[in-house]
Amino acid sequence: MVKNKKFYVTTPIYYPNDEPHIGSAYTTIAADVLARWHRLLGDEVYFLTGTDEHGQKIQESAEKVGLKPKDFVDKIAPKFIEAFKLLDISNNRFIRTTDNDHEKAVSIILQKIYDKKFIYKGKYEAYYCIACEQYLTKSELVDDKCPRHPNVSPEFKSEESYMFKLSSFSDKLLKLIKSGKYSIMPEARRKEIINFLESGLQDISISRLKTKVSWGVELPFDKNHTTYVWIDAFWNYVSGLSDKKNFSAFWPPDVQLMAKDIIRVHATIWPALLLALDYDLPKCLFVHGYFTIDGQKMSKSLGNVLSPVYLANKYGSDSVRYYVMRNISFGSDGDVSEKSLATRHNTELADKFGNLVSRVSALAEKYGLESVKLPVLSFGKLENIKKLFDNFELDKVLSEIFSYIDKCNEFVTDKKPWESGDKKALYELVFAIKNITILLSPFIPSSCDKVSKHFNFKISLDEINKSFKIIPIKKISILFNKVEFNEEVVKHNVNKSPIGIVSMSDLKFDDWSKVDLRVGKVVSVEEVIGSDKLLKLSVDFAEKSHRTIMSGIKKFYSIKELKGKKFVFLTNLEPRKIMGVSSEAMILASHSKDNKGDEKLSLFVPDKDADIGSKLG
Ligand code: MSP
Repeated sequence: MVKNKKFYVTTPIYYPNDEPHIGSAYTTIAADVLARWHRLLGDEVYFLTGTDEHGQKIQESAEKVGLKPKDFVDKIAPKFIEAFKLLDISNNRFIRTTDNDHEKAVSIILQKIYDKKFIYKGKYEAYYCIACEQYLTKSELVDDKCPRHPNVSPEFKSEESYMFKLSSFSDKLLKLIKSGKYSIMPEARRKEIINFLESGLQDISISRLKTKVSWGVELPFDKNHTTYVWIDAFWNYVSGLSDKKNFSAFWPPDVQLMAKDIIRVHATIWPALLLALDYDLPKCLFVHGYFTIDGQKMSKSLGNVLSPVYLANKYGSDSVRYYVMRNISFGSDGDVSEKSLATRHNTELADKFGNLVSRVSALAEKYGLESVKLPVLSFGKLENIKKLFDNFELDKVLSEIFSYIDKCNEFVTDKKPWESGDKKALYELVFAIKNITILLSPFIPSSCDKVSKHFNFKISLDEINKSFKIIPIKKISILFNKVEFNEEVVKHNVNKSPIGIVSMSDLKFDDWSKVDLRVGKVVSVEEVIGSDKLLKLSVDFAEKSHRTIMSGIKKFYSIKELKGKKFVFLTNLEPRKIMGVSSEAMILASHSKDNKGDEKLSLFVPDKDADIGSKLG
């Protein structure tokens, strides 16, 4: 029996000092596409992502909102988990560096490195940028600022500290990278790291005085110090495998994804730690591009932060996944905007793929299918697709699949099956839809799942170009509802403070009085085609007309449980378009988890005597 290959993919673990933005979603979606592709290939896959929860930055962010660091991260880490769930991320574990097993593992490896004499006590003098939690030398500063965070003036630190002998690994690393045993992609990044290593590495501080940074894993050999957050964070890639069995099955990572901001530390400190402990090095570090928004760096103060949660709720998770993978070549920097997402959603997913599936299913319902032995619409580029995936050219994979979709749409135009009722032509098209769906499934899993169930085929690479088992087909419901894009409504997307964290002083009395909460009665409820989350409510607030409200409560409440009942609503929110419908208020609900860890949502029901339209306060 041939043993299945293994594939271990990781993302950086994100700082939970704010809710996830489109950048963290990007890396995680790309890792998910790779994980799903390797599952299609039949490989055993382990996919790890998570949050990096210790260190000065988190400690200070928590202090700012008057929370203990653990309470702070406990509020924000679930936002990442929820966002990734919404985006259909299929990770095996979501590691938090405050997980017990991880903290223990960090302590154990530090003791080992110390015992091997790679750690010594010294004094560290350098600049420190808290935004990237990294030390900088004077020569690295640009106009006295951090090169990655021009609005941060790094602090000069001169502290007693434990040092790691990074300098002893420069030559070994250089050899491993030059020989290709430790691969860094794309080539430009590999060259950059080689140049950097050629000037030699310096020892680095791996601890902070507990009196300064208490929020970290205590050093096992000196209780007055905590571990430098990057050392703690790197170890997630090992501890995230959870047990020895997974470790022996999956170590080392086949690819570690990240953006350019953290490649230097990943290509130096991280492999040196592994070498110090005699671990095999990851096979490949792949550096993808950096997103800008409308040509500018994403920043809250510029009001141009794109929230993946907002986008997924508005356009559907598949559209967000498709967009980030398609819009810029994987490995290069590029611009993203809601407008171009809406355009691709409408013109590519809805008009090309969605429309093909919808037209063909409607015609197949009407005329039926007749099988063809050698379909002209066979897909001839599977080997090419495999190569593109191996080279991480994920945008090009999508270009190939979409040129196949274009070919199918041209075939429809040529054959005019709506006039001819040509059952063989319709068979060819269903056969091609099967191929397309299988190939697209790593990118847009939710729609592909729907199509495969509708046409009754298995999502498996073995099914590519295999005959389609004819069944009676019905017209499929719309896969991608077209969305109208309105520039005006886009700015709402920026959060002023980390979501869910409200400190005592965040809300002034005047702010509170601006909030208009009212009792409303649900007069009717409709399903929303193409959404398994939303319901469309019509609500009476004793105004001239009823308001329409789109609410993501379908999984928790049935139409019967809502209709005719009174609930509490936030009524002075700016209207927001959701799946093409303007939503004119928001139903209030509490969110928590049940004891299985599943999401729980409860609506607020006023006393039965509360008048419709009455204000709360
Ligand atoms: N916690 C460290 C990583 C430790 S890994 C052992 C960290 N966290 S981070 O929250 O700042 O995440 C940085 C990573 O998020 C980038 O390397 C990239 O993967 C992703 N991105 C964040 N912003 C991005 C863009 N604007 N564009 C593309 N990717 C982005 O660094």
